[in-house]
Amino acid sequence: MTDELTPETPDEEEQPIKQRKNGLYPGVSDELAANMKSGWADTELRDLQPIEQAPNAARRRAALSARFPGERLVIPAGNLKTRSNDTEYAFRASTEYVYLTGDQTDDSVLVLEPRDGADGHDATIYRLPRSNRENGEFWLNGMGELWVGRRHGLSESAALLGVACKDVRELTGALKEATGPVRVVRGHDAGVQEALRDKVTAERDEELRVYLSEARAVKDEFEIGELQKAVDSTVRGFEDVVKVLDRAEATSERYIEGTFFLRARVEGNDIGYGSICAAGPHATTLHWVRNDGAVRSGELLLLDAGVETTTLYTADVTRTLPINGRYTDLQRKIYDAVYEAQEAGIAAVKPGAAYRDFHDAAQRVLAEKLVEWGLVEGPVERVLELGLQRRWTLHGTGHMLGLDVHDCAAARTEAYVNGTLEPGMVLTVEPGLYFQADDLTVPEEYRGIGVRIEDDLLVTEDGNRNLSAALPRRSDEVEAWMAGLLGK
Ligand code: GLY
Ligand code: MN
Ligand code: MN
Repeated sequence: MTDELTPETPDEEEQPIKQRKNGLYPGVSDELAANMKSGWADTELRDLQPIEQAPNAARRRAALSARFPGERLVIPAGNLKTRSNDTEYAFRASTEYVYLTGDQTDDSVLVLEPRDGADGHDATIYRLPRSNRENGEFWLNGMGELWVGRRHGLSESAALLGVACKDVRELTGALKEATGPVRVVRGHDAGVQEALRDKVTAERDEELRVYLSEARAVKDEFEIGELQKAVDSTVRGFEDVVKVLDRAEATSERYIEGTFFLRARVEGNDIGYGSICAAGPHATTLHWVRNDGAVRSGELLLLDAGVETTTLYTADVTRTLPINGRYTDLQRKIYDAVYEAQEAGIAAVKPGAAYRDFHDAAQRVLAEKLVEWGLVEGPVERVLELGLQRRWTLHGTGHMLGLDVHDCAAARTEAYVNGTLEPGMVLTVEPGLYFQADDLTVPEEYRGIGVRIEDDLLVTEDGNRNLSAALPRRSDEVEAWMAGLLGK
């Protein structure tokens, strides 16, 4: 379906709609134009209550305001991105904008304006208003509500978000005219960035991005609730997958991807990252998202997937399952080693612990196993010191989790990797062992086996809570869980 009435490339004769004298394109009779202006019911929504996270977003804006006094701060939601010709990718608002507003509307921009002669900032969200019916844009323009659906009006949005709202088409002019220091979160809105080109520096903008990344490290109660919802949906998605393994065997990994995606779309907004549906040797490819391979009885399925909630918080969970419901002896040996490493990692997640502790604890266990199996020469201390285990452990043991799957990624090293765990942080613990199909340094029977186990941990006052504990992890429990789902 295309917007037939909007020229693909307006030439000089056919200017964009808002610049035309009568607001209409050729081919629309005056009678039809007049007809389309009227006869529409008043659909204004009144007495709207603020969204649940509005007070949380207000607290975050207040903290941001205190960090950058006297400066104008510009945080865009981002724009639609072209997929092909006139179709776009599904829109996902920028994490920074969502964090500070609770809103997810494309083309919107949050601006914090420093108050004249007073402390603090005034927040405004610039966004598209309801479509104009008088000039026909609501039905003649591809962004008109008749094409893309009803939007909240500016006063409706203000009531829902607890922030004053203005027409985004006024924004670039206002930014160009504005004086005084300004910072923008880059990478989301080229038009906004262009309007600020002569007023900002990369270094100062990066400080804003880093602040917003670090601010997200400790989650509030609303966020923890959303992350739990994301994990709960993800657990159901894993159950869905187990139930269709026979159909995946008859088709491909795509059946697994599609099955999990259905759960994500029905219960949440989307998947939080490309699902890794890696059967057999594909499990040794860390980010296997092609998902076009065969699913074979007797091999393992490494499924790394997470539902993103409607508020955009994502889970990140991995299980490595025996496709026929039972691990072979060697698969179990490797699986149990990864499980032991994960147990050691989880035990190190507690307030006051160094962030690195859980990684070190898990790596030590894996190094011990690799030495014990004769795959690398000990002693273990030497292996760890030289990092020799990393040929098979490959990646870090976890990361922060939240609105982004790799949350807080712009945080400074001292605040993150070299930092300390605090209650309210949520992170993954996800050790793995991967024996590549062409790794001649390991016995043949190891080749093509990859195992990762990944859970989402909340740091509590006295230790941690495993948000994904509902999904079995121990090898015998995984087998019993699969048997129960398959009615065996
Ligand atoms: N799913 C990507 C990761 O586990 O980090
Ligand atoms: Mn992860
Ligand atoms: Mn993962």
